[in-house]
Amino acid sequence: MHHLRHKKILIGITASIAAYKTILLVRLLIKSGAEVRVIMTPSSREFVSPLVLSTLTRHEVLIELASQELWANHVMLGRWADLFVIAPLSCNTLSKMVSGQCDNLFMAVYLSATCPVLVSPAMDEDMWKHPATQRNLLQAIEDGVKVLPVGYGELGSGLTGEGRMAEPEEILQAITRILAYKHNPLAGLKAVVTAGPTYEPIDPVRFIGNRSSGLMGISVANELFLAGADVQLVLGPSVLKPLNGIETIRVQTANDMFDATVPLFEKADIGVFSAAVADFRPAEVYSQKWKKDNGGVFPGISFKENPDILKHCGLNKRKDQTVVGFALETENEESNALKKLESKNASMIILNSLNDAGAGFGEETNIISIFDDKGGQAKFSLQLKSELAVHIVEAIINYRTK
Ligand code: CTP
Repeated sequence: MHHLRHKKILIGITASIAAYKTILLVRLLIKSGAEVRVIMTPSSREFVSPLVLSTLTRHEVLIELASQELWANHVMLGRWADLFVIAPLSCNTLSKMVSGQCDNLFMAVYLSATCPVLVSPAMDEDMWKHPATQRNLLQAIEDGVKVLPVGYGELGSGLTGEGRMAEPEEILQAITRILAYKHNPLAGLKAVVTAGPTYEPIDPVRFIGNRSSGLMGISVANELFLAGADVQLVLGPSVLKPLNGIETIRVQTANDMFDATVPLFEKADIGVFSAAVADFRPAEVYSQKWKKDNGGVFPGISFKENPDILKHCGLNKRKDQTVVGFALETENEESNALKKLESKNASMIILNSLNDAGAGFGEETNIISIFDDKGGQAKFSLQLKSELAVHIVEAIINYRTK
């Protein structure tokens, strides 16, 4: 697949053990048809050989200025590139990026780059968690840098924890997505996304929940963010994390989700309601844990209806707001989805079918159809949820320009 043909990618390497993985990333990029140039910080030479990278890219790897060379020529690299990808990003270079320090060629290129910048940090867990690093990261995000999450696992120090650089395939995917949205079609727009299950307490330790992983909603939040929107994610209990730069509000119950989402939606342009909200909650929450020696029976639970977040936002939406809901149907799928579009006053409903193998809750893949209130319909075959999220965001963009 040559989906990056004619794309110009500048790869920046800084001093970290993870630099060996960047060789694989460069190979993947070249296989995808991209034109790749590499720039390294002087100390990163200790971690990966410039010869390997110049051989792979068939271009000189820039580290320092050779005598007689013009500084300005190299600085032009940041204008040449469609995207500057810094992988691995060390905490030292991160710190220089946010303070604007220009003490080597690498920093001169960064500071004069006019293209988007994507970074994939790699560091030891303690360094990663240090308030200075986290503060710098927030500043970099504010400066417009897109930051990939770090992974958990074995670290260069021999310890295990958070701080691993993203895998080359993940970085390639992010690069592909950012370049697809080069013109930031959603720039200046605010989006709120609900995702994950809700947990409705029975007593202090027990709850009623569901098997939603939050993957579909988080994937949509990531795509909206990559397309340039300012994204707020209201997330029920889920172990998954969205991209850095997405503001995440953690909630437990449907009521909490409603209270968090409604005021955000009022200020948003787009609302995507993908959470698997419990329709009912126990009417009474026991203040103590219910013990089994209470006669060996668990008391009956009566239920109260939870607020419907999608319906509330749909019915109160302004003309300029786009409301996207999900439907999970097992019979008369299409007519039920259309009914839901109307009853919830949504702009768009994404129908997932429970009848299809490999689709839905707890799976990484799904099959969806999209129906909108302007009569539009589209069906998508079995795909990864991250790929379907791309189609959903494209459908939202098209809908808004219809
Ligand atoms: N939804 C919500 N708040 C609720 C319940 C649902 O925001 N309290 C949203 C979901 O996020 C989803 C859509 O509404 O976008 C699902 O609609 P729902 O009425 O729950 O339908 P189903 O779950 O498909 O099931 P049923 O039709 O059986 O109610």
